[in-house]
Amino acid sequence: MAVGVTIGNRQVFQQSLLPQQDIKFKQTTSCKTDGIKRLYHADNLDVLNLLMYDKSVSGKVTLIYIDPPYNTGGAFETHDFKLAYDDRFGIQEYLSFMRIRLELMHTLLSDEGSIYVHLDSNMVFHVKVMMDEIFGMQNFKGMITRKKCKSKNFTRKTYGNISDYILFYSKTENPVWNRPYEEWSEEKIQKEYPYIEEGTGRRYKKVPVHAPGTRNGATGSEWRGMMPPKGKHWQFTPDKLEEMDRNGEIYWSANGNPRRKVYLERSSGIPVQDIWLDYLDINNQNTLITGYPTEKNIDMLKRIIETSSRPGDLVLDCFAGSGTALVAAEELGRNWIGVDIGDEAIATIVNRLRFGSRPMGDYVKKKKKNVDSMPLFDENSFSDSLEKSETPTNNINYDLFEEI
Ligand SMILES: C[S@@+](CC[C@H](N)C(=O)[O-])C[C@H]1O[C@@H](n2cnc3c(N)ncnc32)[C@H](O)[C@@H]1O
Repeated sequence: MAVGVTIGNRQVFQQSLLPQQDIKFKQTTSCKTDGIKRLYHADNLDVLNLLMYDKSVSGKVTLIYIDPPYNTGGAFETHDFKLAYDDRFGIQEYLSFMRIRLELMHTLLSDEGSIYVHLDSNMVFHVKVMMDEIFGMQNFKGMITRKKCKSKNFTRKTYGNISDYILFYSKTENPVWNRPYEEWSEEKIQKEYPYIEEGTGRRYKKVPVHAPGTRNGATGSEWRGMMPPKGKHWQFTPDKLEEMDRNGEIYWSANGNPRRKVYLERSSGIPVQDIWLDYLDINNQNTLITGYPTEKNIDMLKRIIETSSRPGDLVLDCFAGSGTALVAAEELGRNWIGVDIGDEAIATIVNRLRFGSRPMGDYVKKKKKNVDSMPLFDENSFSDSLEKSETPTNNINYDLFEEI
């Protein structure tokens, strides 16, 4: 098992590397599919250290998503009241915990790789400065602000805290990037593309045919007897503008000013920005959940995975919790490696990979009935604890490794 370090009178997670030969795992289940689908029950420091020497993994991870402890100063329980994990560090202790792990993650990433680190306002700025050092400031791609819950009625004298943050870095200047788009809503379509073309019924908006800055070439010269407005140039050469006009793509105002028609049908959607409002954490009785605290919204994970990896790529979450990133990766046809140190987390993931999630309401029922806790890794006991009619739904195959 991972070596614990004691600070004061309490134990914290391992902070330094073990010699490679001292890290030993036993494999409990076997993956019957091709590719890499691995779950490690261990301190991630040991797993990351070991993966450095694994030729199928080191330098080959396309995407890392982590949602580590936030140093909230509290301990988290599952919906059925078991201790999930402790989140009480000091600042220095927390930063050295993160530094050594982030350095290893940096090495594991491929040259097209990216890392997303999910944090709250407690530590995000400290970790940002540290990641600038490890990944390079030039590889900082952005910080996503996520709305995590509905508005709160705070009794404290401050603003309701409804956001958390995701730091996004790439390993090099050339990461995998499939630009994400949001679909147009009817309301936004009406506002942004207000015109309908006579005869074709195509929706469009009008935009200028010129852009700021002067040019000496064709785009700075006369078109239809007109020069571009002062200090501007045509966006296209006069030849191209002629062709667009022949195709009906130029709108002429009553006083003879040209505007370009931009059609809705050619838009891929609204490019996603860095404020995400649609991925609140689970909040209603019908939502499917695992019962693990801090479980993240799976659709948010799917967006990240689709944007920063391709099918068949390797995704790593070494603070896996309830396994949201792993299930999202599996559903999107990626390979994956998950790691968690906690017994409850691993039990939750094992259960989820076999049976999926359940409506949140089930946990309320469970509380009333005072059902006993489920033993770890005994799949029969998982099925006993489910409704009789429930049969394994996910049946995802994977290799389970336990540290010895
Ligand atoms: C915030 S939770 C992750 C939740 C997850 N994103 C989800 O959707 O369920 C953080 C997890 O990190 C795990 N953890 C903390 N320290 C760890 C360590 N040294 N090695 C592996 N896992 C660790 C905890 O057990 C906990 O499950």
